[in-house]
Amino acid sequence: MNRTVYLDNAATSWPKPPSTIDAIVEFNRSIGANPGRSGHSRSVDAGRTLIDAREAAAKLFGAPNALGVVFTKNVTEALNIVILGLLKDGGHAVTTSMEHNSVMRPLNAARARGADFSTAPCSETGELDPGDIASLIRPDTRLIVMTHASNVTGTIMPLAEVASIARERGIPLCIDAAQTAGVIPIGMEAMDIGLLAFTGHKSLYGPQGTGGLVLGEGYGRMIEPLMYGGTGSRSEFEVQPDFLPDKFESGTPNTIGIAGLGAGIDFIERTGMDAIRAHEKDLTARLLDGLGSIDGVRIFGPCDPERQTAVVSFILEGMSPSELALALDQDYGIMARSGLHCAPSAHRTIGTFPEGTIRLSPGYFTTREDIEYTVEAVAALAVRKKTGAKT
Ligand code: ALA
Repeated sequence: MNRTVYLDNAATSWPKPPSTIDAIVEFNRSIGANPGRSGHSRSVDAGRTLIDAREAAAKLFGAPNALGVVFTKNVTEALNIVILGLLKDGGHAVTTSMEHNSVMRPLNAARARGADFSTAPCSETGELDPGDIASLIRPDTRLIVMTHASNVTGTIMPLAEVASIARERGIPLCIDAAQTAGVIPIGMEAMDIGLLAFTGHKSLYGPQGTGGLVLGEGYGRMIEPLMYGGTGSRSEFEVQPDFLPDKFESGTPNTIGIAGLGAGIDFIERTGMDAIRAHEKDLTARLLDGLGSIDGVRIFGPCDPERQTAVVSFILEGMSPSELALALDQDYGIMARSGLHCAPSAHRTIGTFPEGTIRLSPGYFTTREDIEYTVEAVAALAVRKKTGAKT
């Protein structure tokens, strides 16, 4: 075995475009200063790096104002800011049963501090009936928070319908776009999405340690920060500035990483989100077809590339997901993620708790040959398991 096939893009994309790596190296080599802290020219250049990335992210998400783009270290931090900020002193939130722990754990932490939340049940394929969100709204509901697409099944949620319910009822909607940012178009202003949490290192092709929260007009005032500290602005005050993005960006930012994130977003703009999504749909269709024809394989989720992202979760009869992942890695050089994917609620919903599934997640740099090879490897392992034969 001398081949490597990376099929764990839902955890983090790999490889990164060369331009992402170049931007990181170039920032380190030629700028390297602290943004907004000092008046010298390289500090100004570092500040420009942040402004450029904010503007690129605002454009990508159709956000009203680039100053509403707050950089965080990951999507989890962004979701914590929203959930713990809005439910600080009680109140109620509505979510879905397909959420990752980056939503469920802060919600449960808020509950332990006196707030409450209700969970809309999704179907066995992870699909949400938007009416189930509407029926859980209470007079004290302060937030609807949900994933845009499941990291377990890839199921794409009915975002436009939920946004319209949130608008009608006047409730802030926060979208966890970890699995969709950069691959499925999102228009925050056009769709009335007030809050969007994103990660930089998946389909935005930035490095790990980058992410952000995009706040629509007026949302910054509703939320208390998680962290307080130096912002490089209004240094004469010993209280936190109340303007964006500084209110939520205390301490020296990950400017090196954000330089790479800006380049990642630029890569998407140059390649075209449509082209990226079309390629990923093609690979997903091939994976679904190939795996679906193997005896003993059971696939979860919509099994329809139009209704899911490039994520295919399955089990193979007679082999645990972790055993299968290990065999794929060690015998074939195929890298996948097995288990619960930090989303126990999603696995309960699709009926795979507690063993979980094995998840294959191709990305833009995955080829059709990679998929063929992977399907052949799973087929060979299925035969090996059944017959005890060496493959
Ligand atoms: N949440 C990421 C995943 O789905 C890390 O693997």
